[in-house]
Amino acid sequence: MKKIAVITSGGDAPGMNAAVRAVVRAAIARGVDCYGFHHGYRGIIAEEIVLLESKDVSGIISQGGTILRTARSDEFRSPAGRQQAIEILRENEIEGLVVIGGDGSLTGARRLYEEFGFPVMGVPGSIDNDIAGTDFSIGFDTAVNTALEAIDKVRDTAYSHERVFVIEVMGRANGFIAVEVALSGGAEAVLVPEVPFSLQEICDNLRKSRAKGKRSSILVVAEGAARASDIKQFIHKNTGFEARYLVLGHMQRGGSPTSFDRVLALRLGSFAANRLISGYSGEMVGLEGGKLVSHPLSYVLGTTRTIDPEKLFLVEVLAK
Ligand code: F6P
Repeated sequence: MKKIAVITSGGDAPGMNAAVRAVVRAAIARGVDCYGFHHGYRGIIAEEIVLLESKDVSGIISQGGTILRTARSDEFRSPAGRQQAIEILRENEIEGLVVIGGDGSLTGARRLYEEFGFPVMGVPGSIDNDIAGTDFSIGFDTAVNTALEAIDKVRDTAYSHERVFVIEVMGRANGFIAVEVALSGGAEAVLVPEVPFSLQEICDNLRKSRAKGKRSSILVVAEGAARASDIKQFIHKNTGFEARYLVLGHMQRGGSPTSFDRVLALRLGSFAANRLISGYSGEMVGLEGGKLVSHPLSYVLGTTRTIDPEKLFLVEVLAK
């Protein structure tokens, strides 16, 4: 291989820049030119191509977001859009593509590989951490720490006013962020889409806590489980406790990546570029049990990551 390209696609995640840096410099170390397309798949179709030299990825390791920009491309979801993308890749003599993103972006990579035999290598980048084949996706650790910082601050005011606070975190259809944040933030309860919950039971537990002298509480709700505003309303109506809610939203996607996310991104980015250049394809790299691994995209996209029941159990037990 003489020329590869890299894109960031879907929702941005802190650490994507570190991954781009690693892909570019690992390619250069192998004597391969690395190009970037801006705006993910949309940018391939629009031929937004730039040569990425070592200096272009200098100083980005600490930056959140992605210097390549990102997008969710409707056009690429159609066969005509993908045909256009493959033609652009071939016209530019790109021989392989590293895709950094979440499940939608990896599905796009799988299509390029299966429909056109185009060499691709996926890198899991998503704050949601819902991608199989890796223990961590890039951005999750930073998002959790950002949410945790907010929760710690909210706890101060919840304590002073003796209020119940319901905090909504991101995660799309999954509760990985919610569970991690609830556990590390000492929340009284966590509501996730994967596990049925009873609001009556949550209200009963809040009443019991008050009876034991606990004057303030934090509940964490995953965006895919319920709306924080509705939960707050229900709690207030059923218990009479003063309650407030907070939706953390996109702030969880921004900010400088943690050391964990940087190291993860650098290892995965470098591994992905090297595997692609060595002739491997149709895979996603990951980290399992601390070791670098690579799985077929068909496995990654056909497997569901599940919430660790031990962590859920711990939140419940340690709240009592
Ligand atoms: O997948 C990352 C994520 O931040 C999800 O947690 C969230 O549901 C979604 O993206 C939000 O997407 P958008 O930025 O398009 O509103």
